[in-house]
Amino acid sequence: MRAGVRQLIAGNWKMNHGGTSGLELAEKCVAIARRAPAVDIVIAPPFTVLAAVAHECSAELGEPGPGANAVAIAGQNLHPGDSGAFTGEISGQMLRDAGCTWVIVGHSERRQLFGETDAQVAEKTRAALKAELAPIVCVGETLAERESGKTHEVVKRQVDAVLPALLSHGKTAVAIAYEPVWAIGTGKNAGPDEAEEIHAAIRDWLAVKSPELAAQIRILYGGSVKPSNAAELLAAPNVDGALIGGASLDAASFGEIARISAELASPRTTRPS
Ligand code: PGA
Repeated sequence: MRAGVRQLIAGNWKMNHGGTSGLELAEKCVAIARRAPAVDIVIAPPFTVLAAVAHECSAELGEPGPGANAVAIAGQNLHPGDSGAFTGEISGQMLRDAGCTWVIVGHSERRQLFGETDAQVAEKTRAALKAELAPIVCVGETLAERESGKTHEVVKRQVDAVLPALLSHGKTAVAIAYEPVWAIGTGKNAGPDEAEEIHAAIRDWLAVKSPELAAQIRILYGGSVKPSNAAELLAAPNVDGALIGGASLDAASFGEIARISAELASPRTTRPS
């Protein structure tokens, strides 16, 4: 957590809640956001329900007034092109039309299961920014890479690949999610010191090219974030939020993580002893 920086708590629903259950979960996320006005809440539902969720979130929110806090909607992926013969693909502009303002790019499941390369992730990041979608670019090492001492090398390569695109972000928000692959969906999270080490390294690498970008970008931690470990992870100096998979499917868990983040942003005044 950095002073003066709003934490970003993002839920990646993956291939879950693509129908009415998604609308129900979205409604609960609006309530979560209302209770955590100091935190930015983003949810990434599957494509099939994006427009309906976006509609639900804006209708539920009503007139923005004091304490109102919107839920922003993210796509989980995009095609780098604008339009054309790309069966099964979705462009950045289509995500915008569906009500998205964010998009997850280069998630490790995309890299590992669908063969996305660093170059493609960079292209998608550029396409996201062109469509004025704020990208959450995911980076992270596998267990084998960590065990062979390659964590910094791998993460730096992934960050370097998207850096030229990120440098052109203009007024659009940008985020990087450090998600060690061995921690995703496994119940094993990086400890706060392990996360902090990589988050600080990422910020340092960015600062060499652009101190402004390094200061502005939010670096999220992802990988088995849950209510029981959120406080220590979110309190780490260079952790600006979390990208949450499994625990975002349950409104109680997701709400608790948002509450923890909000509490870090405005700690209760301690009673004088
Ligand atoms: P997890 O997933 O929280 O279930 O580990 C995180 C992610 O894949 O973004």
